[in-house]
Amino acid sequence: MSVATQSHPALRWDGRRLEVLDQTLLPGTEAWLPLSGAEDTAEAIRRLAVRGAPLIGIAAGYGLAMEVARMPSQPTLGALERGWEVLRDARPTAVNLAYAVDRVRAAALAAGPTTIAAAARAEAQRIHAEEDAASSAIAEHGASLLAGAQRIATHCNSGALAAGGSGTALAVILELHTRGPVQVLAGETRPLLQGARLTVWELARAGVAHELVVDGAMAGLIARGEVDAVIVGCDRVAANGDTANKVGTYGLALAARAAGIPFVVAGPTSTIDAHLADGSGIAIEERDAEEVRSFGDALATLPDTPVRNPAFDVTPASLVSALVTERGVAQPVDVDTVGALLR
Ligand code: MRU
Repeated sequence: MSVATQSHPALRWDGRRLEVLDQTLLPGTEAWLPLSGAEDTAEAIRRLAVRGAPLIGIAAGYGLAMEVARMPSQPTLGALERGWEVLRDARPTAVNLAYAVDRVRAAALAAGPTTIAAAARAEAQRIHAEEDAASSAIAEHGASLLAGAQRIATHCNSGALAAGGSGTALAVILELHTRGPVQVLAGETRPLLQGARLTVWELARAGVAHELVVDGAMAGLIARGEVDAVIVGCDRVAANGDTANKVGTYGLALAARAAGIPFVVAGPTSTIDAHLADGSGIAIEERDAEEVRSFGDALATLPDTPVRNPAFDVTPASLVSALVTERGVAQPVDVDTVGALLR
């Protein structure tokens, strides 16, 4: 694919402008949202119109590149710095956001005034191409690791709507589906229902057999022997393999361990934060209480009920059977095996 025009199920980049599929409207409506710079891209990321750790990195890279291209021919670097900051701060947990905008900023700073816009665009496109390639490699490695597993549970959404190519954990499931029969249990993922709205949408489009379950049902189904393996994506992996992913993941890891089945994490190495020794330093996003107080448009509790709404939890590396990346598989997952992936 040309680097000037890159299409993806959830993003369209024509070399100058970005459009994202507005994921807040799925599965009912497929509407494309045009974006033009750092502010509107950051807003789309904040309200989860574009979401999923690697995908927000790709979108943010393009957002900063568009912001840089707005600069006059003799640019002050203020716009670059402001754009970088607003995008970097859009959401706290997924490290891919900082990873991508730091790269685009560095490429822009290394260029001269007349080449700054082209350099920023080229770097954003490189990040996108790398994430697409990572997805394919993750699918291969993960499907080999899970060969023979047929009944797979997953949580949240880790497909093309969340990452480059066809995704991370969901890409592994799609690859397994090309190799043999697969039956997926998709957790609905309260409160924003990324499993019910997005994973089911992707599985249905791919023709993969699946059933949707409420989050509270998954551990019991695992305990009853109805699942061969659990595979999920990740938003930030610490140097020792502790993994932040969508809230509810930790409970699935505990259930998988109790049942003696594999609990596998899949993600690109851009999701590994080598600067964090362990998961205790991962910032966990706390989202708006209204996401929990309501269900769709309907109030689900008393209007002023106090709420906790952490969007992620951290699963200790000791519960993760394997970490699948584009560079290979860490198994067991510890500081040595994760470190080896980064060397
Ligand atoms: O809050 P979201 O929808 O951005 O959360 C996304 C997830 O937790 C995904 O499972 C994760 O980013 C892995 S994506 C490949």
